[in-house]
Amino acid sequence: RGCKLVGCGSAVPGLQISNDDLAKFVDTNDEWISVRTGIRNRRVLSGKDSLTDLAAEAAKKALEMAEVDPDDVDLVLMCTSTPEDLFGSAPQIQKALGCKHNPLAYDITAACSGFVLGLVSAACYIRGGGFKNVLVIGADALSRYVDWTDRGSCILFGDAAGAVLVQACDSEEDGLFSFDLHSDGEGQRHLRATITENEADHVLGTNGSAVGFPPKNPSYSCIQMNGKEVFRFAVRVVPQSIEYALEKAGLTGSNIDWLLLHQANQRIIDAVATRLEVPSQRVISNLANYGNTSAASIPLALDEAVRSGKVKVGHTIAAAGFGAGLTWGSAIIRW
Ligand code: ACO
Repeated sequence: RGCKLVGCGSAVPGLQISNDDLAKFVDTNDEWISVRTGIRNRRVLSGKDSLTDLAAEAAKKALEMAEVDPDDVDLVLMCTSTPEDLFGSAPQIQKALGCKHNPLAYDITAACSGFVLGLVSAACYIRGGGFKNVLVIGADALSRYVDWTDRGSCILFGDAAGAVLVQACDSEEDGLFSFDLHSDGEGQRHLRATITENEADHVLGTNGSAVGFPPKNPSYSCIQMNGKEVFRFAVRVVPQSIEYALEKAGLTGSNIDWLLLHQANQRIIDAVATRLEVPSQRVISNLANYGNTSAASIPLALDEAVRSGKVKVGHTIAAAGFGAGLTWGSAIIRW
């Protein structure tokens, strides 16, 4: 039994923030941002916008392209690190889509690697679990966790949602050739947004009795990032991971039609493409328009490339995500 990608969709918020807009409230400028990152604009959710709605919109478009009825979906995987409900947002997407048979729906948290992990999870459910139609959504609103006074990080991020429908098929048609997934908790210090303080510690007195009850609820800090370390990490591990996945699939950089990396920084994309000897014409990039949209970046770029006719049926794509955790992984897929 195999699995293949049969539909994609994406959605972005209406509010656009350019580099010049950012320069009005933080000490930066368009030239610095574009030269160091390749980013020119990003979309940001405004106060009343819902990430869950954006994700449902992307998922609906993927179902329409695949011509699959919401009732035929049997699993919804929402890859996000910024859910609007701490207990998970996938069931709300399932509800918004009107899937009547109560399919399983849950969230996957793996930052910018989330979508690749979701894709591989979908394949495992289909190959081993008898599932037929799995919606994999990548959606994040990192703008809600950005320190808008930190020019080293606030320039990078944007909000978006992207989705694909992965469907069961005969093994000859299989569209996930190979994958490679990793994490490294040691590197978490370079990129994180942790709870500010564990208030439970203040509740316990020295003899173990409860004092100062009830505790205050903790909240999450803004994104704390060591950009240089994250950059080094990405250019080191991503080519290794893709090379390994390509080798497992019996391919090399010269056999693939497209290289599709998590859209974090154009210099990272270029460095990985050079190392894999993939020419720039075969590299997908929409970073200039949206910035780093975390788990949404790969399905958003894929959707644009498919709808513009760049990526055609039968094309081979080497996709790789990397980011907080630290986590990283690649998947060699056929569209
Ligand atoms: N505008 C103007 N100057 C700036 C800005 C800015 N926005 N940000 C930093 N600078 C200054 C610094 O203060 C520093 O000045 P100094 O030399 O006087 O001290 C100088 O520019 C160089 O700063 P660096 O931080 O060394 O710049 P660098 O070339 O490393 O670029 C960047 C920074 C763009 C953040 C880069 O390191 C990067 O992209 N790293 C990867 C980050 C990433 O991809 N993170 C997301 C991972 S995905 C996820 O899971 C969320």
